[in-house]
Amino acid sequence: MLIFKKSQDISDYLNKSRAKGQSIGFVPTMGALHDGHISLINRSLSQSNLTVCSVFVNPTQFNDPKDFEKYPVTIEKDILLLERAKCDILFLPPVEEIYPKDWKSPSHFDLGELEKVLEGKYRPGHFQGVCQVVQRLLQIVNPTTIYLGQKDIQQCMVIKRLIELGKLPVKIDICPTMRDSDGLAMSSRNQRLNADERAIAPALFEALSFIKENIKSGPTNHILYDAQIMLSQKGFKVDYIAIASAKDLQLIDDWNGKDQLVALVAAFLHQVRLIDNMLLN
Ligand code: PAJ
Repeated sequence: MLIFKKSQDISDYLNKSRAKGQSIGFVPTMGALHDGHISLINRSLSQSNLTVCSVFVNPTQFNDPKDFEKYPVTIEKDILLLERAKCDILFLPPVEEIYPKDWKSPSHFDLGELEKVLEGKYRPGHFQGVCQVVQRLLQIVNPTTIYLGQKDIQQCMVIKRLIELGKLPVKIDICPTMRDSDGLAMSSRNQRLNADERAIAPALFEALSFIKENIKSGPTNHILYDAQIMLSQKGFKVDYIAIASAKDLQLIDDWNGKDQLVALVAAFLHQVRLIDNMLLN
């Protein structure tokens, strides 16, 4: 696997590959890699001539500085996992390669309602930071396809909007959420859970499954209330548990029985904030 640390070097390399007609699959990550990330790498490997993974813990998307400080960094293990997966290229930039002094990012990305609900509401500024870094990474890598995880469904929609806003020539491929055998969605933040918290954490998946099994047309408040109680009783502090349109994440409080729905949850187990979602129909 080739490892690049400088933006110019990886751009030059990829420009040559593109000129030879090679397709480039891109998997942006913040490292602390797990099998969820590797599933994206595998999808890219199966569809692209070259697969590029980036590992960069982007400071501008952390609305909570403590979360940034505690974000797990396991770069040596990440390199081993990527080599084992046969990833072609790792981009591992220091912060000044992503945000050089002369780099001018648009001061604001117009994300509309997407930025006002759910993660947008509970993590102010988060999606602006995601857009900033993804725009920069797309400029450097200029991939054929970007591979993203359904686990962060709102982020997928935000990046789709970013690509539309910039009229960028890149396809998006959204890959299914990988879970541990007890249902817990794989996440870098799971590494911060202690044994007791790890044992409780699958309750998020159970609450989403409960909604999926019991959803009926009509008001959604009762089922959401029951799911919220399930989580509070286990010790979660719930930011939100919601049912929304899978198309645009508009919250649904009265379901017509037809629209495609997704249930979404974000909750703290002590210091660690976890998110998950599930398509319902
Ligand atoms: P990170 O949380 O490292 O996730 C990188 C990619 O892996 C994202 O597209 C995410 O949705 C996907 N992913 C995470 N857990 C997954 C799982 N259990 N199954 C499948 N895919 C999963 O998301 C980010 O980094 C950052 O915001 C980033 C886009 C890199 C911008 O900094």
